[in-house]
Amino acid sequence: MSQSRQRSPGTFPRDLPAFAALAEHAYGAIATAHMKTLFARDKKRVTRFTLDAADVHLDYSRNRINATTWRLLVALAREAGVERARDAMFAGEHINATEDRAVLHVALRAAPRDRFRIGKQNCTADVHRVLDAMEQFVRAVHAGRIQGHTGHRFTDVVNIGIGGSDLGVVTALRALEHYRGKRPRVHCVSNVDGTQLADLKKILNPATTLFVVCSKTFTTQETMANAHVARRWIQRTLGPGAIADHFAAASTNHEAMDAFGVHRQYRFGFWDWVGGRFSIWSAVGLSVALAIGMPAFRDFLAGARKIDRHFRVAPLERNMPVALALLAFWYNQFFGADSQAILPYDNRLERFPAFLQQMHMESNGKSVRADGASVSIDTGMVIWGEAGNNAQHSFYQLLHQGTRFVPVDFILSARSSGAGMAEHRLAIANCLAQASALMAGQSARDLRAAGIVDASSVAHRVHPGNRPSNTLLLPELSPATLGQLIAIYEHKVFVEGVLFGVNSFDQWGVQLGKVLANSVVQRLKKPTQSNQLDATAEHLLARLRRLGS
Ligand code: F6P
Repeated sequence: MSQSRQRSPGTFPRDLPAFAALAEHAYGAIATAHMKTLFARDKKRVTRFTLDAADVHLDYSRNRINATTWRLLVALAREAGVERARDAMFAGEHINATEDRAVLHVALRAAPRDRFRIGKQNCTADVHRVLDAMEQFVRAVHAGRIQGHTGHRFTDVVNIGIGGSDLGVVTALRALEHYRGKRPRVHCVSNVDGTQLADLKKILNPATTLFVVCSKTFTTQETMANAHVARRWIQRTLGPGAIADHFAAASTNHEAMDAFGVHRQYRFGFWDWVGGRFSIWSAVGLSVALAIGMPAFRDFLAGARKIDRHFRVAPLERNMPVALALLAFWYNQFFGADSQAILPYDNRLERFPAFLQQMHMESNGKSVRADGASVSIDTGMVIWGEAGNNAQHSFYQLLHQGTRFVPVDFILSARSSGAGMAEHRLAIANCLAQASALMAGQSARDLRAAGIVDASSVAHRVHPGNRPSNTLLLPELSPATLGQLIAIYEHKVFVEGVLFGVNSFDQWGVQLGKVLANSVVQRLKKPTQSNQLDATAEHLLARLRRLGS
């Protein structure tokens, strides 16, 4: 594809030739074709629609596509300039234009020989300097050379952060619990209401607890409120001199870490070219490294690095993040899908859907394009999900027989991540069975053949099928494969953003609520203050005060 046939700035996705061709195709035979028929017609379908990236195998044959759909979708990716945008990201261009920043989370997992520069900054060298400092700190904590104020080893770590400074950490900690061994337990505190920390204070010993305050800005209301509660607890129980021994931090804001009293050796920096929701690879991962050890944390980074390479070099036709983005776009634009479910069949991945929720929705939940014009198509879908069988007993009814059209991603590993294989085989069986049921369904004819003849009974039991799913298959859940999985979705989100024409790396939509929350806080403190909120807020505040707020 020549440069001239790629999207020029200002071109709307709808104006791309491939979009028009896709629209025509979507409303043709493929709209009504049942996947059972597509499988019957194309014996090579599974080979055609499966691909590998590092250790991850993607089966996307259970989608409402055929070879023509795929050709047109890939053409759309080319015309939208996915390759050019990808190369610009890896080159450190300021693709986050509204914040005038580069987007280089890929540099956080670079090998020492990889070259990532922004102007005069050698990003690779800076990244490895911080990783080495983290390694020294983590080893010293594990060996007991860094200990609490009263000379006790740390048995517990509390990560304080929210959003991108929490969700990746929580996800990785839960996913990799089987790698923790005898290292400290790590707990996470994020919400502002104080209950998480209040509960932890009941079971933790301050003398053996290390807090890690994670905040890119070190100003986030929730994080700072929790960090100050923790600080007061340490001060009250161990004395004011204990603060420096019990707090580590990951942030870009060195002045604020100074003001808080974070020891110079216990602080780990990162840079404005790391977006919060893409920061788990940076010093934000410190708590994860404390839980699984630095060699395993480096494996996690190396896993992501393999996917970066795949994303960079694999042709669009065989590129896993591109494939996932194109399929999501296909259903979003042409099938009216407004949500996508993420369904991991390993309980250790139970927080993965929440992590992906921020990654997708904060990135692509936009109505304005990167060039400032309003979008002309629907953008990011609602992302939701839950771990395997729990989800089956909760919302699969809607997936199978509801009126909503919800494409799903199943995530499955071949080997158990810590339980017996007998139990794990049950999880595998359920995952494969659900994907088959969504695809094939159960017709009235099938039911009658099985002896169910009463018309009403048949009607209630029919499963229409033809409901699409991807299956992402891992050999096992390990630091390396978790790194791969997260990186696949990061790049998928990026490609979707390019297709929509939005800037996936800012998040202006979360600012207004933050500002308003601050004025409500003032209003709660001083009831007579004149700043009037909207009528409903004033009514609720009055009611809350009467109830004791
Ligand atoms: O929720 C908005 C947000 O800005 C996220 O993008 C970010 O991950 C989170 O707040 C936390 O920000 P910080 O790391 O600066 O505390």
